[in-house]
Amino acid sequence: SNGQNIRPHRLEDYIGQESLKSVLNIGIKAALGRQDPLDHLLLYGPPGLGKTTMSLILAEEMGVNCKITAAPALERPRDITGILVNLKPGDVLFIDEIHRLNRLTEELLYPAMEDYRLDITIGKGQAARTRSIPLPRFTLVGATTKVGSLTSPLRDRFGLIERLRFYEPEELALIIERTAKILEVSITQPGAMEIARRSRGTPRIANRLLRRVRDYQVVHKHQSITEGLAAESLDFYQVDPMGLDWTDRMILETMINNFNGGPVGLESVAASTGEDAKTIEDVYEPYLLQIGFLNRTHRGRMVTELAREHLIEN
Ligand code: ADE
Repeated sequence: SNGQNIRPHRLEDYIGQESLKSVLNIGIKAALGRQDPLDHLLLYGPPGLGKTTMSLILAEEMGVNCKITAAPALERPRDITGILVNLKPGDVLFIDEIHRLNRLTEELLYPAMEDYRLDITIGKGQAARTRSIPLPRFTLVGATTKVGSLTSPLRDRFGLIERLRFYEPEELALIIERTAKILEVSITQPGAMEIARRSRGTPRIANRLLRRVRDYQVVHKHQSITEGLAAESLDFYQVDPMGLDWTDRMILETMINNFNGGPVGLESVAASTGEDAKTIEDVYEPYLLQIGFLNRTHRGRMVTELAREHLIEN
């Protein structure tokens, strides 16, 4: 990237996720009116749909800071306590992959979320005593790809639980045109739509593909990214007309060739493709399920007829 911030800063500049935006808009206005922090918010859905961006926007709309972290960085109890005691009143704390918190850290969060209180234990064994430290009122924004993996005590402490959906190509085209303007890239509307159709419903991918197509445009000395140029360059990068990349196709082809299209268990797919099971489940499967290329049955994953036709044609 060339250093320009392509993230939207205000709710009105955030494209798509209309129902999420309208719910948050009410929450923001009500909280500002009462001079309260926003309720704790849990955002779930596939990666790259704008959970971090939304958290930054919420802080900006509330006029507070946003501290960004992720569960794997909160290994020791002092990691989370250090962050909590340094928050300013009203601040937003964003914790990515919140389903991966360890038990001790999660238990420190319960009184912090509920009563803005940190309960810490001093000493060990017989001499152990607990002390309560008051915290500033804050908003926890948790993000996860797997809402079902959250414990219920944690889930129950969020006032709002909202899902992010895959974007429509028309929405992605608007995001691409917006980013192109910031990057000072010339692109036609059909050019933006061609990139959008290959972006798997995901803004992060749309913006990444735009940068690749821009490289191709510059090196081949084209004036503007047209539909034809977008298609030609994405073919060059092996992003197919449905946005499947080499790994997606390899996963589907392995399931067809080694398991007769399924049903096959996730672990077997992982073993025979050499991809990590979690990565397949969190990164590759959601979009393949969404576009009807995979089905999940009680006996495992199955490749659909639609996917077979697509693989033959492309
Ligand atoms: N960039 C990434 N996601 C976006 C969105 N939803 N709206 C506007 N710009 C974005």
